[in-house]
Amino acid sequence: MKIFLDHANPDIIKKYSPIIDGVTTNPSLIAKEQCFSGYHDAIKQIVSLVDGPVSIEILSTDAAAMIREAEELASIYPNIVIKIPVGLDGFHAMKELTQKGIRTNATLIFSVNQALLAAKAGASYLSIFIGRLDDTGQDGVSVVRDTVQIVKNFGFQSEVLAASIRHPLHVLQVALAGSHVATIPPGVIDQMGKHPLTDKGLEIFLNDWKNAEKCDNF
Ligand code: E4P
Repeated sequence: MKIFLDHANPDIIKKYSPIIDGVTTNPSLIAKEQCFSGYHDAIKQIVSLVDGPVSIEILSTDAAAMIREAEELASIYPNIVIKIPVGLDGFHAMKELTQKGIRTNATLIFSVNQALLAAKAGASYLSIFIGRLDDTGQDGVSVVRDTVQIVKNFGFQSEVLAASIRHPLHVLQVALAGSHVATIPPGVIDQMGKHPLTDKGLEIFLNDWKNAEKCDNF
């Protein structure tokens, strides 16, 4: 499973870039940062930080304007993936952009049927917001699992991307469900790499090493 970083802060992206396969961001994440002079400056800064795919949401809402905006961005930034909200205009734009060789990320997916339509429109990634589904009492991971099955059944080219991840158990569950990608906030990546027995084990090794040196064993 590929791991993308779900963030917009350039320093955070630089810190995690050696261990991630790509980045996703959204207007809300960008708006939280003080270091950008505007949306286009944010795109320019973020996209330049990683070689892998960087998903950036476009601001237009009708199909023709989405296509224009996406084409302009893709002509400047070769590693950009255009994030497009699902819906009729979005599906239309995804289909046309895919035919033109521009990668898209179908965003704000909350049901398997939305994912199916986005896959048929040729989206490169299907972003299923599992945390937001869980918040409403629905099972976000099951939407990922069923979408993975449908992608396999029909040989769609789209990759299932588990988004809105809130904790390490989400990552484990979507990996077991066969998600191709998980986009993860930095705090959750930190938690994934930690275990109290690792800290305890390291402390013991370091102490034993110091004691062994004192005994002049080496
Ligand atoms: C993914 O591309 C989205 O930006 C993100 O995962 C949304 O997460 P949230 O529900 O925590 O805002």
